[in-house]
Amino acid sequence: MPAAAMAFHGVTKRFGDFTAVDNLSFSIPEGSIFGFLGGNGAGKTTSLRMALDILSPTSGSIEVLGVAPSRENAAEIGFLPEERGLYKKMSVLDTIVYFARLKQMEPAAAKAAAMALLERLDMADRAKSPIEKLSKGLAQKVQVATALVNSPKLLMLDEPFSGLDPVNQAMLEELIADAAKGGATVIFSTHVMQHAERLCDSLLMLAKGTKRFDGTQEEARAALPSRLTLTAKADPAALTGVTKARAQGDPADGWQSYAVELQAGMPPEALLEHCTTTGFALRSFDVQTPSLHEVFIHFVGAEPEMAQ
Ligand SMILES: Nc1ncnc2c1ncn2[C@@H]1O[C@H](COP(=O)(O)OP(=O)(O)OP(=O)(O)O)[C@@H](O)[C@H]1O
Ligand SMILES: [Mg+2]
Repeated sequence: MPAAAMAFHGVTKRFGDFTAVDNLSFSIPEGSIFGFLGGNGAGKTTSLRMALDILSPTSGSIEVLGVAPSRENAAEIGFLPEERGLYKKMSVLDTIVYFARLKQMEPAAAKAAAMALLERLDMADRAKSPIEKLSKGLAQKVQVATALVNSPKLLMLDEPFSGLDPVNQAMLEELIADAAKGGATVIFSTHVMQHAERLCDSLLMLAKGTKRFDGTQEEARAALPSRLTLTAKADPAALTGVTKARAQGDPADGWQSYAVELQAGMPPEALLEHCTTTGFALRSFDVQTPSLHEVFIHFVGAEPEMAQ
C-alpha cells in the first residue's frame, strides 16, 4: 500500500444542529488524482476546509501528509479556495511571486517559476496587468497559478474548472495531470463528471455529507451491471447471468441485434466465455462501459447538478 497523502477517519462536522459531513472515512494514496464528487451542499468544501485546518471536525480525525491538519506544512500544500480573491491592485506576476514567497521560495526561483507558469497558461503577456483588469476566468487562472507555483506535494483545488472556458478547462486538466506525473497528489472537487472521468484515478462520491462510494474509477464502473450489444442467432435471454435481453431492429439473414444487461458483478468476459463453451452463435459482442455520470446516478440517485 502506498502511503496516504490524506485520510479521514470517521469525520463529522456539525454547524449547530445541521450535519454537513457525516462520519466520513476515506484515504487518498500518494501520487494519485482524486475527485471529490457531489452536488451543491454535499460537503466537499467543508471537507477540504477541515483538511486545511480552516475548520475543525466536530468528531473524528484527519491526517494530511502523515500529520494532523495544521498550518505548519502549508508550504507543501497548494490550495485553490472556493471563494476566489486576490489583491486587485497587484500585478499578475507580483501576485504569483507573493504566494511563492509565502511558501518559502527564494525570490529568483519564485519569479522564474511564476513566469514559466504564466507561459504555460498562455498569459505571459498579462504579467504586468493588475488583477482588477483581468476577466473572471483569467483571474481564476492566476489563482490556480498561485496554488501551483511551488510545485507542492499536495494540491487541493475546490471547483477548479468552474468559470473557465473549454480551452482553459483543457489547459487546467493538462496542468493537473502533469503535476501528478511529477509526483504530486491532486485532490479536486467538482460536480462535472467529465473532468473526473478524464483525470481521476480514484474518487469519493458524497451526498448530504454522507459517503456513497469511494474507490477507483474501475471499481465504480464495475458496481453497475454490464450492458452490451450482441448480434446472435438465438435470443440470449436464457443465457446464464443475463437479466435483460431486448431485440433491436429487424433480423438480417437470421442474425438479430440484442441489447443485453448482465447481473451486477458479472463481467462481460464471463458471458463471452459461456457463449464460446456452449456454442452459442455470435457475430458481434460490444461492451458499453457506463459513464461516470451514470455511476454517480447509481450511487447518489440524482443528477450531480441536483444532488444534495
Ligand atoms: N459555516 C456554515 N454554517 C452553517 N452551515 C454551513 C456552513 N458551511 C457550510 N454549511 C452547510 O454545509 C453543507 C455543505 O456545504 P459545503 O460548502 O461543504 O458543500 P459543497 O459540497 O462544497 O457544495 P457546492 O458544490 O455548492 O460548493 C451545506 O448544506 C451548507 O449550507
Ligand atoms: Mg463547495
